[in-house]
Amino acid sequence: MEDMAWGTDAELTDEQFYNREQEIVVLKAVLESTASGSSPTIMVTGIRGIGKTVLLKKIIKELKDDYFTCYIDLSATSSYQMGKLTETGIMEHLYESFMEEYQDKKFFSTFKKLSKYFRTKDFSLGDILDAGGIPVPIPRSVNNYKKLSSFVMDLPQVIYQEHQDQVKGTILVIDEFQVLKDLGDRLETFLWYLRSVIQSQKNVTYVFSGSLTSSDLIISKIAGADGAFGGRMLNVEVHPFSKSTVKNYLKDKSPSLIFDESGFERFYQCTKGIPFYVNTFAKLLERDVQLDQEKVKDEFQRTLPYLAIHLINQWSRITLQEQKIITQLLEGPMRRKDISQNLGVTSGSLSKPLSKLQDTGLVKLEENHYLISEPILEAWLKKEYNEKRVYPFRSM
Ligand SMILES: Nc1ncnc2c1ncn2[C@@H]1O[C@H](COP(=O)(O)OP(=O)(O)O)[C@@H](O)[C@H]1O
Ligand SMILES: [Mg+2]
Repeated sequence: MEDMAWGTDAELTDEQFYNREQEIVVLKAVLESTASGSSPTIMVTGIRGIGKTVLLKKIIKELKDDYFTCYIDLSATSSYQMGKLTETGIMEHLYESFMEEYQDKKFFSTFKKLSKYFRTKDFSLGDILDAGGIPVPIPRSVNNYKKLSSFVMDLPQVIYQEHQDQVKGTILVIDEFQVLKDLGDRLETFLWYLRSVIQSQKNVTYVFSGSLTSSDLIISKIAGADGAFGGRMLNVEVHPFSKSTVKNYLKDKSPSLIFDESGFERFYQCTKGIPFYVNTFAKLLERDVQLDQEKVKDEFQRTLPYLAIHLINQWSRITLQEQKIITQLLEGPMRRKDISQNLGVTSGSLSKPLSKLQDTGLVKLEENHYLISEPILEAWLKKEYNEKRVYPFRSM
């Protein structure tokens, strides 16, 4: 039977989830050391679509009965959604996520235990009952970020202490970590603050995750030798599926796809073993026909708009200047000087757009050359150009 998730699914069934035995063993072992009161902070990295979120959600599901577990998606922070991430917004979002789990765990019957804590932190519980019965603490002195953050960040440890009879510890997964880049110059201060909190909490384990790779600047700011966590962080990088993994996976989950050798090679080349693309492409491919190299190539062109959907989305949100830079890079990796010459602008004026493009993950810098980091975006732009003789620049 076909049982393959869509690329947009965030939670997979056990039947849909494939591979990653190694990563699961490592991560679970580390996370279970929370119970003994000491475990390292973890950073799970890997490019977009590689399967970090589904992996972490699977692990949380397996540990849920024994731990106070919380999955926090930083990109869902409302201030980020509204255009500018703020520290206060992050704290409010963390608090809401903690309280949701608190409710799931049915700890509310003993809420008086926590209300003690609210009082010591000088939070009024006056108008607390929000929709759904989640108490909303109101700082007596409003707009006091320091107070709010110390209140929210101490909560995971306090929750454990008040409920040690029911849980072995607290596990917090903070996903989409890359959105913290939005904090700009305030990022480092925030990271150092996080570390000071994390160090003081014995029974809470933090797992950060985001579409980042070890070459990303934010990783060195946090996990590098001089970074906030000064090498005290355990990095687990999630890699693409190997060729043989993809072969077995397809045989298993999509037996009606009939590849010949060249067709499969092409499939792997198109998807690069990135599960998001593997699943999306496999689900859209024609069934019960012989898929040779040519057929897969045509099918790839046909399905590109679906494979590239989240990239097209991003493309439409960047500025015209940023779009022009990307189309330059379609010709190959380029130095900043060459991009500025081609576009007829000063090299200095490219600083901001180039660093923004790197933050979005669409462009990377390697050996002084900028290049497009998403081959699928590249393929889509080329297809658009071939068909319409013009790039899909936004009309401004
Ligand atoms: N282990 C896996 N088994 C099967 N499909 C997977 C696996 N990991 C990822 N996928 C597919 O890739 C998609 C993207 O995974 P996701 O975890 O959201 O990526 P990331 O968080 O790294 O960007 C999922 O919706 C799923 O379709
Ligand atoms: Mg994810």
